[in-house]
Amino acid sequence: MNIAIVGTGYVGLVSGACFAEMGTNVTCVDVDANKINALKQGEIPIFEPGLEEIVLRNVSAGRLSFTTDLTEVLNTVEVVFSAVGTPPDEDGSADLKYVLEVARTVGKNMNKHILLVTKSTVPVGTSKKVRQAIQAELDKRNSKLTFDVASNPEFLKEGAAIKDFMSPDRVVVGVESDTAKEIMSRLYKPFLLNNFRVIFMDIPSAEMTKYAANSMLATRISFMNDIANLCELVGADINNVRRGIGSDPRIGSKFLYAGCGYGGSCFPKDVKALIKTAQQNGYNMQLLNAVEEVNDNQKSILYQKLANKFNNNLNDKAVAIWGLTFKPNTDDMREAPSVVLINKLLEAGCKLRVFDPVVKEINITDKNLTFASDIYDAALNVDAICLVTEWQEFRLPSWQVLLKTMRTPIIIDGRNIYDKQELENLGFYYEGIGV
Ligand SMILES: NC(=O)c1ccc[n+]([C@@H]2O[C@H](COP(=O)([O-])OP(=O)(O)OC[C@H]3O[C@@H](n4cnc5c(N)ncnc54)[C@H](O)[C@@H]3O)[C@@H](O)[C@H]2O)c1
Repeated sequence: MNIAIVGTGYVGLVSGACFAEMGTNVTCVDVDANKINALKQGEIPIFEPGLEEIVLRNVSAGRLSFTTDLTEVLNTVEVVFSAVGTPPDEDGSADLKYVLEVARTVGKNMNKHILLVTKSTVPVGTSKKVRQAIQAELDKRNSKLTFDVASNPEFLKEGAAIKDFMSPDRVVVGVESDTAKEIMSRLYKPFLLNNFRVIFMDIPSAEMTKYAANSMLATRISFMNDIANLCELVGADINNVRRGIGSDPRIGSKFLYAGCGYGGSCFPKDVKALIKTAQQNGYNMQLLNAVEEVNDNQKSILYQKLANKFNNNLNDKAVAIWGLTFKPNTDDMREAPSVVLINKLLEAGCKLRVFDPVVKEINITDKNLTFASDIYDAALNVDAICLVTEWQEFRLPSWQVLLKTMRTPIIIDGRNIYDKQELENLGFYYEGIGV
């Protein structure tokens, strides 16, 4: 089968490479000429473990190619996936301009039946708008061509995207015709040979499933952060509480970690967009409003802990920041809690030494912000270390070295990866989240 994937970002490039790996001929399309040129040279524009290998293998096998022009391939493909960005609009709703632009390009240029599948996260009702946009273009040229639309929200996690795509827990597909259902079954069958779990449903339910999934996950995080903050006040330990409740199969142990707030390209914008969809339909999502509020506060918690420790006088304090990305194994900085922390500390007059294994520059320039070459370099002569992202290489530092090289041995652990007792025995001052 020949398919095109429009939008060659974290979702589009991974999806394209993985479909190609299963024998489909894939053309990845993007308006960003720099990205496409880099890919043509064999350079991968994002950091995603395992992606480079799979892209290069499929390019050399002739199953994966790249272009900036969708019209070039439109008449040789059966399916077009739209995986373009849906960033938040000023009012928090999802901005659909890229999604509708792709639909119009398809309507203007198709010369045969096409199935247009929306893989981007889009509010309920978007497929209807996509259908109307294609039809309007066909009407303009008096074309009687037929087409199908489908919704196929993506559930991959950055950092584990290849594994998630190659062996998905489930594939959700919203369709409104047997043709679309047959094509989507054929396309996904290789991924689920042993346990075929494509969940077909109507399109609005598929669109809603994605928002419900991300909102549920965001809710678990904010819930645990709320409980963690209370644990600190009453002398309980969130790690014990997590083990205690996670062992109940009705709750489950995954995604129950307290920390310094969720970030990334998905949870913040999807929670906002769902709240907005509800508002537009005259409904108030009380729970999700609280989830957002808890998270906004939580992103400041490391700052508050430091400020308390230094009696609200952070001026001239040197602080190391370990980890910048919103989670490990990605280069994605969108909505990262580290940015909130860095801005607050700089504002308070701190001198920051930051280190991340992948990100070597950020959108903040300040004479008091220095990039260090590793965790020890970052910690040199600092008054405190803030662990923000739990990269594996941060898990077992040499505490003895740090005791010698830090000015004062203070560890603020935003992901609860260190042992309070162990660090206190060594002579550190330690604070985690809810510990
Ligand atoms: N990143 C994730 O982990 C993730 C997971 C599941 C779902 N999603 C959803 O998938 C969608 C894409 O997310 P992403 O993180 O891959 O975004 P991204 O910003 O990494 O990539 C989007 C790409 O689309 C391109 N683009 C925009 N308009 C275009 C057009 N008209 N034609 C061709 N290309 C165009 C951009 O240049 C960009 O390269 C979003 O709706 C997101 O919510 C993301």
